Amino acid sequence: MSDAKIPLAGVIGHPIAHSKSPRLHKHWLRQYGLPGDYVPLDVAEKNLATVVRALPKAGFVGANVTIPHKVNVLQLADQISDRAILIGAANTLIFLPDGRIHADNTDGYGFLANLRQGAPDWQPQAGPAAILGAGGAARAVVSSLLDAQVPEILISNRTRPKAEALRSEFGARLRVVDWVHAGNMLEEAATVVNTTSLGMQGAAELRVPLDGLQSGAVVTDLVYAPVDTRFLQVARQMGCVTVDGLGMLLHQAVPAFERWFGTRPEVTEATRQAVLA
Ligand code: ATR
Repeated sequence: MSDAKIPLAGVIGHPIAHSKSPRLHKHWLRQYGLPGDYVPLDVAEKNLATVVRALPKAGFVGANVTIPHKVNVLQLADQISDRAILIGAANTLIFLPDGRIHADNTDGYGFLANLRQGAPDWQPQAGPAAILGAGGAARAVVSSLLDAQVPEILISNRTRPKAEALRSEFGARLRVVDWVHAGNMLEEAATVVNTTSLGMQGAAELRVPLDGLQSGAVVTDLVYAPVDTRFLQVARQMGCVTVDGLGMLLHQAVPAFERWFGTRPEVTEATRQAVLA
């Protein structure tokens, strides 16, 4: 196969230099001995449509989409998967052989797959889930937890109307808890998820009181830099089962890689090390 024919994929964002996706996809391409390449694409808002439409002609079979384009990119798609419609954003594009653009969202899939791999005994029906935050990432988490049949979701966000908007949209199994009482909802929760950016390198720490965490609860953080956040460390000290956010990043890439390159990749310790290296 000549170089011009190798399937290309990439990640579209702005900025994009810190994305771990190129390292991940290149690792899998090497591991499975597949032809292909995966490149970072730094694309400003005003150039998004031009770049997305040009990519199939340049040999791209698809692309990941990240901040700040995950919502706007839907306007450029010819087909949108049900889960991308539900979440209101796409993280994956597939360029179909007939020239159409298919948009999908694998964040919810990645969230659940990571939880199931990291906490194999996790039972979604064991009790309510508590979610901190109500931004874009929380939408994917809420929709996947509802799919997994959690009995109830307690959700708390600094800006309460955003949590209420999610409740209106996703329905009666959501209960909004005021941000000042976020610690209290942890007492009821069998599953706890931090979807805020608090605890991320360079951001403030999560200040929600964590002494209500139930021993045995499954606790996960979407923040993955650092991988072992203070939130996860405290949860472990309280006897919780913790699952870090790096795995979600790895698992959300699995369905996309399979569609683009034809092999379903495995997420293993070696995958994690390759991305962290
Ligand atoms: P993402 O797509 O990663 O979810 P986002 O949509 O910007 O990003 O959402 C960020 C989340 O972190 C929101 O829930 C946000 O709360 P607000 O809706 O009140 O902004 C939360 N967040 C960010 N900084 C915060 C802070 N200092 N205190 C509390 N919550 C914070």
